[in-house]
Amino acid sequence: MAATESAPPPIDTSRPHPARVYDWFLGGKDNYPVDEELGRRILELEPHARRSAHSNRSFMHRATRWSAAEAGIRQFLDIGTGIPTEPNLHQLAQATTPDARVLYVDNDPIVLAHAEALLRGRPEGVTQYAQADVREPHKILDQAARVLDLRRPVALSLIALMHFISDEEGAYELVDSLVDALPAGSCLVLSMITGDYDPGTMERAVQTYAAGGVTLVARSHAEVARFFTGLEVVEPGIVSLPEWHPELAVGEDVQGDAPVPLYAGVGIKPSTTRH
Ligand SMILES: C[S@@+](CC[C@H](N)C(=O)[O-])C[C@H]1O[C@@H](n2cnc3c(N)ncnc32)[C@H](O)[C@@H]1O
Repeated sequence: MAATESAPPPIDTSRPHPARVYDWFLGGKDNYPVDEELGRRILELEPHARRSAHSNRSFMHRATRWSAAEAGIRQFLDIGTGIPTEPNLHQLAQATTPDARVLYVDNDPIVLAHAEALLRGRPEGVTQYAQADVREPHKILDQAARVLDLRRPVALSLIALMHFISDEEGAYELVDSLVDALPAGSCLVLSMITGDYDPGTMERAVQTYAAGGVTLVARSHAEVARFFTGLEVVEPGIVSLPEWHPELAVGEDVQGDAPVPLYAGVGIKPSTTRH
């Protein structure tokens, strides 16, 4: 399958980009000196930042396995995909459900440049990539309607994405409009940074990102829970990343005792309407 849309915008190496900083934390090669510089500043503040990035990736693995195997979901809309890092979401979903259909969405041109690696799925399944911004939910839903059957359940992954969107930009309304477009039985898979464990360090991290031109919003447990309004949050609830179904990890998982300052949760859309 080919990536949707052409003529990508140029890659701006004059300022850090979230996808590339995250790639640096994960030990990837698709980042630039500005990204590394911001990453190193964050590591000075929070020496466990790399572990948090790996822990977030591991949550994506576990939540995708859960969505496919436990919830029986066969369609995935992953917004804020990031630079390909194996295993990618479609590989995990198609390992359980070979004919799983996946639409990846990101707004960073570097992700589009590497999208080819995201599109090598199982022949029985479908993987597509769309360049779009989560602040344009209607554009995303239009693309999704071409790839997925929106009458059937979809796992909507917003993993380490919504902390780049402020309340003023409509973070809650954007998630609502995406969830509202999906049928009952769909699920919202979400992770997000929080200052609940160490407010001072998180505040300095937010300021460091802001100095690099990147908006970062840390949210409390109650503020993260608000994204799940009207959904049935599955056990164990909204918890720190490593606490979410650790038994679903395959092989060695990320180790460490320090708290991971990201909350994670999965909510299922019930048959009754939200709100
Ligand atoms: C920290 S990475 C997370 C990647 C992946 N979801 C994961 O958890 O491993 C955040 C991703 O969100 C993307 N992103 C940030 N703001 C976005 C926006 N407004 N619309 C779409 N994608 C966005 C970034 O380009 C980046 O790839």
